[in-house]
Amino acid sequence: MKKIKVVLGKRSYNICIKAGMLSSAGNILKTLNIANTAYIITNKKIKSVYGKRLEASLSKQGILNKFHIVPDSEKAKSYACWCKAIHNLADFDKGKGVCVIALGGGVVGDLAGFVASTYRRGVPFIQIPTTLLAQVDSAIGGKVAIDIECAKNLVGAFYQPKVVISDPLVLRSLPPRQIRNGLAEVIKYGIILDKKFFSYLENNISKILKLNPACLEHLIACCSKLKAEVVSADEEEKTGYRSILNFGHTIGHAIEASVSYGKSVNHGEAVAVGMLCAFDIALMLNMAKERDLIRLEALIKKTGLPTRVKGINIAKVIKATSYDKKIIRGKKRWVLPVAIGHVAVCSKVDDSIIREAIKKRFCG
Ligand code: GLY
Repeated sequence: MKKIKVVLGKRSYNICIKAGMLSSAGNILKTLNIANTAYIITNKKIKSVYGKRLEASLSKQGILNKFHIVPDSEKAKSYACWCKAIHNLADFDKGKGVCVIALGGGVVGDLAGFVASTYRRGVPFIQIPTTLLAQVDSAIGGKVAIDIECAKNLVGAFYQPKVVISDPLVLRSLPPRQIRNGLAEVIKYGIILDKKFFSYLENNISKILKLNPACLEHLIACCSKLKAEVVSADEEEKTGYRSILNFGHTIGHAIEASVSYGKSVNHGEAVAVGMLCAFDIALMLNMAKERDLIRLEALIKKTGLPTRVKGINIAKVIKATSYDKKIIRGKKRWVLPVAIGHVAVCSKVDDSIIREAIKKRFCG
C-alpha cells in the first residue's frame, strides 16, 4: 500500500492507495479507532456497484452502517439534500460515535464533508473517492461545501477527513470520458509542480488510458503527494500558495459557467482548454516558451481531451472570468506557466490579451 501523509498538525491524515483497498475500509477504520457506526453518503449507481463490498468490510469489523442515497448530479449539493442527510443521520445516530463516509465522486465528497462538519459541530469524516478526479483532487484538501442559488460552493467549511481510501480498481467502472475528466487535473499537477511527473505522463499515457493498475497507483500517489504538499503549506488559502491549484481553472470555470455547467463540456475538458489559454496568455507576455506549449498540447491531444471548445459564447466566457472566486480586492489572479513544472501568479494581465487567448481556443 502507498501511504501519503497530509501534514496538518493534529489534523494530519493519510491517503491510502492500493488496488482492492475498498475491501479494507473496515480494517482501516477499526485500526484508527474512528467510530462504531458509519453513515455512508453515496448515490444509487455507486451503491449498486460498491455498496455490498463496503458494507461487508465494515460489518466484519462490527461497524454498524447505513447508506444514505443522494442524486447523481450537482443537485446533491443543495440545501435540501444537506437538510435531508442531516435528519436521516440524526435518526440513525445512537450517540455512540458516528462517522460520515463519502463513497463517490466530488459532489458526494463535498456534500458528505459538509454534513460531517456541521452535524454535532463536527464528526469524523472519511473519503472513499470513486472517480479519478476525486482521487487526485477533490477528496484531498478539506474544502467541503454546498451550492446556493446565486453561486456554487458558497456555503462550506475547511474540514479535513480522517483518512482518504483510494482504490484504483474502482476506476474500472468509469466511462472513458470520466477518466479523461480526471486526467486534466493530473496533467495540471505536472505543469504547476513537477516536470518529471509531466514526462512520466508523456511516456505512459497509453498505459494510463488502458487503466494499467501499476500506472494508476503511481499516478494517484504522485498527484496525492503534490496536492498534500500544497494543502500542508497553505491549508486555508491564507498565503496565496494554494491558488497555484487554480491553474487552468479561471477560464475553465468560465467555460463551464457559460454553458450553465451542462453536459456539453465537463470540468476536465474545460480545464484542458483553460490550461492552454493560460499558456497562450503566458506566451503573449513572454513568460513561457512555445516548445512547452507544444508539449502540453500534444499530451492533451493524446489523452483525448479537447484543445478547443465549440459553440461557446466568447463574450459570456470573458464576463464569467470576472466572477472567479480567486479574485482578490477586485483583481483577477492569473496562474500562468513559466515552464513545465513551474507557474507564477499574476494580477496584471490586459483584458485584450485574455480576449485574444480565449478567441484562439474557440471554434464554431
Ligand atoms: N476538497 C477539495 C479541496 O480541498 O481542494
